[in-house]
Amino acid sequence: MSDLHNLLEKAYRTNDLTKKEITYLLENHSDVDREVLYAYALKTKQKYYGNKVYLRGLIEFSNICRQDCLYCGIRASNTKVERYRLSPEGILACCDQGYRLGYRTFVLQSGEDLWYTKEILVELLQAIRKSYPEVAITLSIGERRTETYQSLFAVGADRFLMRHETASQELYEKLHPTMQFEDRRACLSALKEIGYQVGAGFMVGLPGQTSADLAEDLRYLKEFHPDMIGIGPFIPHSETPLRAEKGGTIEATLVMVALARLLIPDSLIPATTALGTLHPQGREFALQAGANVVMPIITPVSVRKQYALYENKIGGDDQPEDCRYRLESWIQAAGFDVDLGRGDSRQFVAW
Ligand code: 5AD
Repeated sequence: MSDLHNLLEKAYRTNDLTKKEITYLLENHSDVDREVLYAYALKTKQKYYGNKVYLRGLIEFSNICRQDCLYCGIRASNTKVERYRLSPEGILACCDQGYRLGYRTFVLQSGEDLWYTKEILVELLQAIRKSYPEVAITLSIGERRTETYQSLFAVGADRFLMRHETASQELYEKLHPTMQFEDRRACLSALKEIGYQVGAGFMVGLPGQTSADLAEDLRYLKEFHPDMIGIGPFIPHSETPLRAEKGGTIEATLVMVALARLLIPDSLIPATTALGTLHPQGREFALQAGANVVMPIITPVSVRKQYALYENKIGGDDQPEDCRYRLESWIQAAGFDVDLGRGDSRQFVAW
């Protein structure tokens, strides 16, 4: 057995690797090692979650953002993007459609748009809770005051997604001129402390990102132990300063997905839209490499193309209905079972 194979076997058996071991693995694996890694990740996923794939209805309710992240298509400095903001009634109409399609988790995502004050969000969450007492409500609205996070949790938000983006402080500071590395981590810790099921995660293939940086991403996740982990390739957007950069590959991203499954085995890991954008089967490959969540976009088609964090995002013209049934059929064809329940994380629910 090669040393690589030994390392992979150790990762499978102990759910742990040092930063040095991860870095070595990232820099020295062969195509065959990669297949072995994916197989271990799939087995681990099956051990914790069986064959199930959970669906979440994603509502992108505003593309207005006060931040200016160098990679992102809806950064404040991009004057070319047509901005939109759904009203609370519009968001409720989306939830209604999502509910009728069978989704029992709604993910409300937006740019950092302070038009949605704490008061407006509280009222919105109360309305959603009243109509759908049993659904899980996930927020993905970026950095706010701890007190705001508390108020939103108190009225029924269950989960919060906020990627740490990169665990390298130097790289983080280069990419986020309007944000602070420590603030991000403080928000993530506060969310967890309040009682949210928390999602963190990062991009793969950022300009200047090293194998050691990616190893650090996994070590940070291992330590923080989030309920959800979002990992996607960086895809350059032509209206951003990173337009000429290379972007992440499918292979590099899948390797990180599989390692995340091995190191944080009880986490929920989405097969991200960004992976589906790089390759028609990108999300299917991710499910085979340890992912277990798919997040179909149920944003109204009239504004969907405007929520372009990166270009050529899949699903732009889909009606949500088409999306739901097409999803089910490829997920089943790949050998998995769609589960339309809330799909809470194993860390959160007792076995
Ligand atoms: N390519 C890939 N992912 C991106 N995101 C933002 N911009 C891009 C891009 N150009 C990711 C960030 C963010 C999530 C919602 O989308 O990681 O947290």
